Amino acid sequence: MAPKDFNDRMLSLGLARVAEQAAIASAKLVGRGDEKAADQAAVNAMRDQLNQLDIKGTVVIGEGERDEAPMLFIGEEVGTGNGPEVDIALDPLEGTTLTAKDMPNALTVIAMGPRGSMLHAPDVYMDKLAIGPGFKTGVVTLSMSPSERVSALASAKGCSTEDITVCVLERPRHEEMIAELRATGAAIRLITDGDVAGVMHCAEPEVTGIDMYMGSGGAPEGVLAAAALKCMGGQIFGKLLFRNDDERGRAAKAGITNFDRVYTRDDMVTDNVIFAATGVTGGSLLPGLKREPGWTTAETLLMRSKTGSVRRMTYRNPTP
Ligand code: FBP
Repeated sequence: MAPKDFNDRMLSLGLARVAEQAAIASAKLVGRGDEKAADQAAVNAMRDQLNQLDIKGTVVIGEGERDEAPMLFIGEEVGTGNGPEVDIALDPLEGTTLTAKDMPNALTVIAMGPRGSMLHAPDVYMDKLAIGPGFKTGVVTLSMSPSERVSALASAKGCSTEDITVCVLERPRHEEMIAELRATGAAIRLITDGDVAGVMHCAEPEVTGIDMYMGSGGAPEGVLAAAALKCMGGQIFGKLLFRNDDERGRAAKAGITNFDRVYTRDDMVTDNVIFAATGVTGGSLLPGLKREPGWTTAETLLMRSKTGSVRRMTYRNPTP
């Protein structure tokens, strides 16, 4: 029998449920200082929900390689097996430390597309650059210096460099870049974790106040961010960064042959996808989980790249 079509419209609500349940499962662990327990709760719930969907799914971006992640590892088959062949990129808890410390913008994140639609990014770093929608392709590029990117974006926006806000992960490896950005007069929103949310912030600058994201973070998170921008609009560029031969080996195992390639959004996500993210801790993108006596409330962003539709769904569930 021919494989069933990827019916993104039908599957999208199921995907929202997966993101919601992963978030709800981590609710009791927000602010409890236990990253591992919060992550495990989200992983278990996400896997349970995925296995209820009528899909023949393969995890392509997951919790790690088979030998290091017992659940939702790269290559794990999920779903009932009765349905379309799909690829899944997920991060059951993007921002485990943010959750443990009850800091903003921890999310549960999942994207789904037809088989072969997403880059099998190895678990290495990726140099990332992202801006929101409405700009010519390549108005900023990875080959520009950080200050050139700020100037180019400011002239494309018709504003001063001082009116640009750049989001950057606060890491010692970014100190030089931060100093160069500061010299342009641009503002910098430093985040301690969670660069999927960091990139997504660029898609709604009027809401979030962020115009551009840059710096290195996880490559798997880069693919998830590309899936989000494919739905919301905006550009992202990513280049894999290798620190040693083991990392190059991981990339080769994932089928990557050109180690110097700069991936655009549509190189990372080559077909239409659906994307869901639920807020765990509140931030400028999504409110966090709300716990009241007897109830837990979660808000989910559910998007389809085919239509560019963005839904915000509030889900209230009795707390067991
Ligand atoms: P976890 O949720 O797995 O802790 O990842 C959080 C994160 O901040 C990502 O958003 C980001 O891509 C990556 O870690 C950055 O890595 P590092 O902490 O090594 O700089």
